[in-house]
Amino acid sequence: MKWMVEVERLAAEVDVAELMAEAGKARITSNAPLPTNDPNKRSIRFLDSSGEPRKLGFAAALFDFSPTNVITPHGHTNMVSSHLVVGGKFRVRNFDRLRDEDGAMIVRPTRDYLAETGAISTMSSARDNVHWFVPQGGGATTFDVIISEIDKAQGDTRITAIDPVGGQTLEDGSIRAPIMEFEEASDKYVATI
Ligand SMILES: [Fe+2]
Repeated sequence: MKWMVEVERLAAEVDVAELMAEAGKARITSNAPLPTNDPNKRSIRFLDSSGEPRKLGFAAALFDFSPTNVITPHGHTNMVSSHLVVGGKFRVRNFDRLRDEDGAMIVRPTRDYLAETGAISTMSSARDNVHWFVPQGGGATTFDVIISEIDKAQGDTRITAIDPVGGQTLEDGSIRAPIMEFEEASDKYVATI
């Protein structure tokens, strides 16, 4: 949680153009496209003064969304991440992950807003663990920082797609969202939802 607050504070001070100029000096490699409707991921390796990749405690990447690419709703285990909008704008939806049940996550909607260039979205286990990104009015790009395997005792970092729209609303307003495969999620969660 503290990390999220600090990153959000930092993002308020970051000049997106300067950040992108810095990223432009790094080694950027395109990842292999996924079979889903995900944005194209480009991994960023920042280099030291001798041109060697720096060993950092986090991973950085750019996600380039076509107007129809979507990051479908999913939860994260044993990781934190931040997503700075560096081009275009997104509809961002978040949910707190209240607990896990057999085949489902119990989630509560927390945010649904338009994030324009310069805005940042963060997630952790404590807050907004589920996120969902849909570009608005054209293509858009995020600059992401990801810290994986925060707690070795928790094992591997995992991401899990869920179906909050197809979920069941419980008495307290939370949603029992079934776990689904990312391929299935990509078919259902198109940019118009
Ligand atoms: Fe994610």
